[in-house]
Amino acid sequence: MTARCDLSPVWAELQAHFDQDGAASGRGFDIREAFKADADRFGALSFEAPEVFADLSKNRIDAPTLALLLKLAADCGLEERRDALLRGDPVNHTEGRAVLHTALRAPAGSKAPFNAEVQASLDAMLAFAESVRRGERGEITDVVHIGIGGSDLGPAMVVQALQAFGRRDLKLHFVSNVDGHDLAPVLAGLDAKHTLFVIASKTFTTQETLANAQAAKAWFLAAGGTDVARHFVATSSNTTAAAAFGIDTAFGFWDWVGGRYSLWSVIGLPIAIAVGADNFRELLAGAHAMDEHFASAPLDRNLPVLLGLIDIWYRNFHGFTSRSVAPYHQGLRRLPAYLQQLEMESNGKGVDLEGNALPLGTSPVVWGEAGTNGQHAYFQMLHQGTDVIPVEFIAVKRPNHGAVVEKAGELAGKLADQHRKLLANCLAQSQALMQGKTAAEALNEKAPTASATLDPDVLSRHRSFPGNRPSTTLVLETLTPRSLGALIALYEHRVFVTGALWGINSFDQWGVELGKALCNQLLPRLDSGDTAGLDGSTAGLLKRLVAA
Ligand code: F6P
Repeated sequence: MTARCDLSPVWAELQAHFDQDGAASGRGFDIREAFKADADRFGALSFEAPEVFADLSKNRIDAPTLALLLKLAADCGLEERRDALLRGDPVNHTEGRAVLHTALRAPAGSKAPFNAEVQASLDAMLAFAESVRRGERGEITDVVHIGIGGSDLGPAMVVQALQAFGRRDLKLHFVSNVDGHDLAPVLAGLDAKHTLFVIASKTFTTQETLANAQAAKAWFLAAGGTDVARHFVATSSNTTAAAAFGIDTAFGFWDWVGGRYSLWSVIGLPIAIAVGADNFRELLAGAHAMDEHFASAPLDRNLPVLLGLIDIWYRNFHGFTSRSVAPYHQGLRRLPAYLQQLEMESNGKGVDLEGNALPLGTSPVVWGEAGTNGQHAYFQMLHQGTDVIPVEFIAVKRPNHGAVVEKAGELAGKLADQHRKLLANCLAQSQALMQGKTAAEALNEKAPTASATLDPDVLSRHRSFPGNRPSTTLVLETLTPRSLGALIALYEHRVFVTGALWGINSFDQWGVELGKALCNQLLPRLDSGDTAGLDGSTAGLLKRLVAA
């Protein structure tokens, strides 16, 4: 058994498979030809996991490729590494910590590690959320959640996605950036008496969060607020620092909850306030169902494993350096930002577990935008640009437009029609990426806006598409707390799979430290203007920024 995938003998087999001639497998693989050759390709390459259906058939894979990738996973001990994660072994070895976000969504009474503590913490957090919703902490109309990174992206994304499950009389605001242009406009619309601030920081030392929290406190007192302890609560594993800030309601959690995996913990408080305890439990239940699938489904039907293996195939054999995520649901528009931290902070590493420099590419750039908006921005490049960028479409079969539909005559029909248009666009994009259009096909078409004087051959080359561009489509029946929980857990496990195969620690983030330290050194120089010892660029910029 080899832990790092490129050291496995199967890696060389995969490379030989990739390098072989022809359109059947590897470098020359043509998805269109594969569909022609196999009438059941969709059936063979579509998979069911809890709450998520996945069509992998528009990818550059076939049975031999998948068989080799699965052989690689077995040779690298993926199942053993997964089991070590779920058992609570200290897999985050550079910080000597277990990584147990799965334990946060295990049901009460399960054998998952720390179950009793987890349930007690969950019950307390949910009881508090319900007390806010019932008005027991005064009439709260606005909740301002202050946190950054993992203490912001997950809760913000989930609250937005589950807006249809929220209450119109209880608004959630998320402030993360140290830039006061984030906080100021939020505060401008608030009444201190009716506002609750949640300060979310695992460490309670993060510059941005503490600066925003102090500013919010100053505003609160100036705006007539008197009872800081009642209007400020914290979610943190450093409850001592929270108390020093003046907060006496602090929900603690454990060092084995990583920041970017923390929305399931008390960091999920704004979610619970927004959608209520029952819906929060549904979110956990959806994630738990995906955990069970990851833990027990055979690898050849294990969706996080299959997605992770395709990621390896694309990143390390095809050399694709990025992946675009296109959720065709406006509620999921923050999903790409959330996934950027999940994937790039987890797997953006350059050394293996022993500290050896990795000779292969790790995390791709993950980016995207909700559909159909992205189509009118960067999809041009996905279709005709010189880089191949696999795209991940997320389609939601049934919409939930909320209560407005019931009250407004023809609106229901109009919105239903818009949903059909949304789904048609989603299908059309993955079809177009795969299908492409030859220059000969373009030549035979009449394009109303095309130049009448340009040589038709030249024009047809501008209007042709290479096609064979891969995509995955994930389908949710509808967007609910449960399906969202399952979807997020799917991504978490897929990131684990690729990180485990690359032989890296997906659970530390030392790469964020240097910038933080240098910022602390530069901060006083923004007052003094002192540039001594700085490099020429930083000195020049600093002078320009502080000049009177
Ligand atoms: O950006 C680095 C980071 O440490 C993330 O990993 C983390 O999610 C974020 O900062 C916020 O940290 P904290 O919750 O401790 O404020």
